[in-house]
Amino acid sequence: MAFSPCKGLTRKSVKVLVVGNGGREHALVWKLLQSEQIEQVVCVPGNGGTANMENCRNFPLAVDDFEGISKLAQEHGVTLVVVGPEVPLAKGITNYLMQQGLMVFGPTKAAAQIEASKAWAKALMLEAGIPTARAAVFTEAGAAKSYVKAQGTPIVVKADGLAAGKGVTVAETVAAAQAAIDAIFQGQFGSAGKFVVIEEYLTGQEVSVLALSDGLTIRPLLPAQDHKRIGEGDTGENTGGMGAYAPTPIATPALMERIQKEVLEKAIAALTAKGIDYRGVLYAGLMITPEGDFKVLEFNCRFGDPETQVILPLLATPLEELLLACVQQRLGQMPPIAWKSGVAATVVAASGGYPGEYEQGKVITGIEQAVAQGATVFHAGTKFNQQQLVTNGGRVLNVTGVGENFHSSIAQAYAGIQCINFEGMYYRRDIGHRV
Ligand SMILES: Nc1ncnc2c1ncn2[C@@H]1O[C@H](COP(=O)(O)OP(=O)(O)O)[C@@H](O)[C@H]1O
Ligand SMILES: [Mg+2]
Repeated sequence: MAFSPCKGLTRKSVKVLVVGNGGREHALVWKLLQSEQIEQVVCVPGNGGTANMENCRNFPLAVDDFEGISKLAQEHGVTLVVVGPEVPLAKGITNYLMQQGLMVFGPTKAAAQIEASKAWAKALMLEAGIPTARAAVFTEAGAAKSYVKAQGTPIVVKADGLAAGKGVTVAETVAAAQAAIDAIFQGQFGSAGKFVVIEEYLTGQEVSVLALSDGLTIRPLLPAQDHKRIGEGDTGENTGGMGAYAPTPIATPALMERIQKEVLEKAIAALTAKGIDYRGVLYAGLMITPEGDFKVLEFNCRFGDPETQVILPLLATPLEELLLACVQQRLGQMPPIAWKSGVAATVVAASGGYPGEYEQGKVITGIEQAVAQGATVFHAGTKFNQQQLVTNGGRVLNVTGVGENFHSSIAQAYAGIQCINFEGMYYRRDIGHRV
């Protein structure tokens, strides 16, 4: 099916500013630049991957320097700002830039609470009748600890606010749950620790359903599965994500239909009832129970990382058309989102020691060879240091394969990653082990 450019967009007329510096943002830039309509992408601050792309330029501003970002966007005549990470969204970057007359893909500060406060999101889910784990919210340690004792273990303790993926403890013992409660109320997560959410422990497989919303219409992207733990066999500490693939067969068409009705549409209706016009990605993190039922673990207010790195390679509709349709509230008038057939898989190459302490500045080699194998390499924590590409973060690269089926895509990702080297490089050898 052919897509005509949406109204007002002509060949090479669109400039986009992308906020963020992860693999997700490199994938967004990569996808945008494949479109005929995109003239230029400006990245704030970007990484070693976006630094090296034709028609893309990095600017070293902080993601919460709203004034600087606004000026940069105006100077470059940017059509659309796309915000990657949750922190600037929760701080109100969308509100600020919209006041300056810019079009922004990403929810407002009020809407971003769906990710920035787990207690707020839980209340919304209850109001909307969205299936989720049973939970209670506490404002002080004593009552929280008594509740844990009464409930027994395993049990899940969550800091309310943004905690960079470190605010959740799945506690096997009462002592572990109590220690997590203390850590939160003692301020380990800063203002994220004003409330604690204690939640029923669920078992099953996790699925990420990212959906595009214009405030009226919400449409899911391909369902993806992430691998949160650092160790093989899903062991060890939680990370930002060590690998992913899409579409995941566990989210069958029938299940996706139910998620659309029972989660996505209900969420948008409940947000609308609160006067919130949600324009951006609504990402539902779901637990699919062994019985094939599902419950929402959390919502995120942005593209997932690394899920985006496996969803975008399969997207056939030009990305900027979808993003602009969300911002201009005309997603419902767009043809169905078109997808390429096949599967995409990505494996994360991380710095040794991550998610704990790790060293940076290690020289990275072998990316060209990985690309020659057919892999696509999205950069995350990388930068150029005097023309040399070096590590600059915990998660360094996302080596992505696209194939006809799961096995060919994962084989391509691993063939690619085996070409790459930097001191201390670590990656999981079992991405997709559940398939
Ligand atoms: N109720 C639950 N039962 C079992 N595991 C959970 C539950 N809630 C969260 N988890 C686990 O903890 C991880 C992080 O929790 P999540 O709510 O997604 O918070 P965040 O992504 O903000 O750290 C989840 O991906 C999941 O593995
Ligand atoms: Mg999560």
